[in-house]
Amino acid sequence: MTKPDVLQMMPITPNIQAQADEAFVLRKLWQAADGQAFLGEVAPRVRAVLTNGIIGADRALIEALPKLEIIGVYGVGVDAVDLAAAKARGVRVTNTPDVLTIGVAELGMALLLDVARRVAYNDRYVRAGRWRSDGDPVLSNSVAGKRMGILGLGRIGRAVARRAEAFDMAICYHGRTRREGIAYEYVPDLVEMARAVDCLMVTCLGGPTTAGLVSREVIDALGPKGWLINVARGSVIDQPALVEALVEGRLGGAGLDVFAGEPEVPDALLGLENVVLQPHQASATWETRDAMGQLTVDNLKAHFAGRPLPTPVL
Ligand code: NAP
Ligand code: 8YV
Repeated sequence: MTKPDVLQMMPITPNIQAQADEAFVLRKLWQAADGQAFLGEVAPRVRAVLTNGIIGADRALIEALPKLEIIGVYGVGVDAVDLAAAKARGVRVTNTPDVLTIGVAELGMALLLDVARRVAYNDRYVRAGRWRSDGDPVLSNSVAGKRMGILGLGRIGRAVARRAEAFDMAICYHGRTRREGIAYEYVPDLVEMARAVDCLMVTCLGGPTTAGLVSREVIDALGPKGWLINVARGSVIDQPALVEALVEGRLGGAGLDVFAGEPEVPDALLGLENVVLQPHQASATWETRDAMGQLTVDNLKAHFAGRPLPTPVL
């Protein structure tokens, strides 16, 4: 049987790559010196796209691939895939839910602990010789006894909540609807929740339906002692309003894994001591990326073998 041609947009971990190389003819776009020329050459034969949560697959790409049958997303968020275009063409879409939940929740907690306990700040303090020259740095804050408001109590939100409980934090959440069988307090109004908590943890889905949900008003309600942590998507936060609030000291601190317009990060954030920045690393552990790669490859293999898709979106 001839192996199906798969357009691969980015690298994956080596052992999963080896497995994918066995099963498919991989057309590795990121390795091409001239991406457009390469695409033009392979497009007529491509039956699948292997992409990630950031690159996704836009309408132009979907339309450029006449034989496209399936898009395997190496990530849970599919906001970068033009689902309408895929649906119109009858193209299947899969993602990688669950296997990355713990990894993302861990980074959410790491960012919160860093912002509260000033870990990166104090690391810079020691490295710059300031402990010797200036003495002890200013005190930090404990997270125990503080309130965490979770925006989007889905798989990742619940995993963060469990970890925050272990750190003796009180939990409440906001989403479109109250979740059945959940003991945490549901707050129907996001501004009200932001006013009531010490930390707003953003774990909801991205895309147009949540764009700018964390507005200037929400940021102001969180206030000068509040911490904002985002491991979801940059689009969920009004980024210019966030930057302004941090620069003006109207927000206590922020831990940001994701940004609008990645990999660009606003210059104004780079010099702020109360901000911890990550280059979209929440799922970026060997364990998680292997599991994501395996699930992506399993979805593609299932499709070409005519079996049900393990984790279909469309
Ligand atoms: P999930 O289980 O589907 O949870 C998504 C949550 O978003 C749900 O709780 C949902 O609650 C909430 N939501 C949807 N629309 C909303 C709205 N308009 N207002 C408020 N809340 C809304 O997904 P998950 O697996 O936890 O993943 C969540 C997101 O994390 C992904 O979509 C992705 O963008 C992001 N992510 C980021 C990374 C990273 O590397 N930083 C890694 C993985 C995932 P309701 O339905 O009750 O509103
Ligand atoms: C990844 C993600 O960083 O799952 C998602 O939605 O954003 C992340 O897990 C991405 O898909 C891999 O680059």
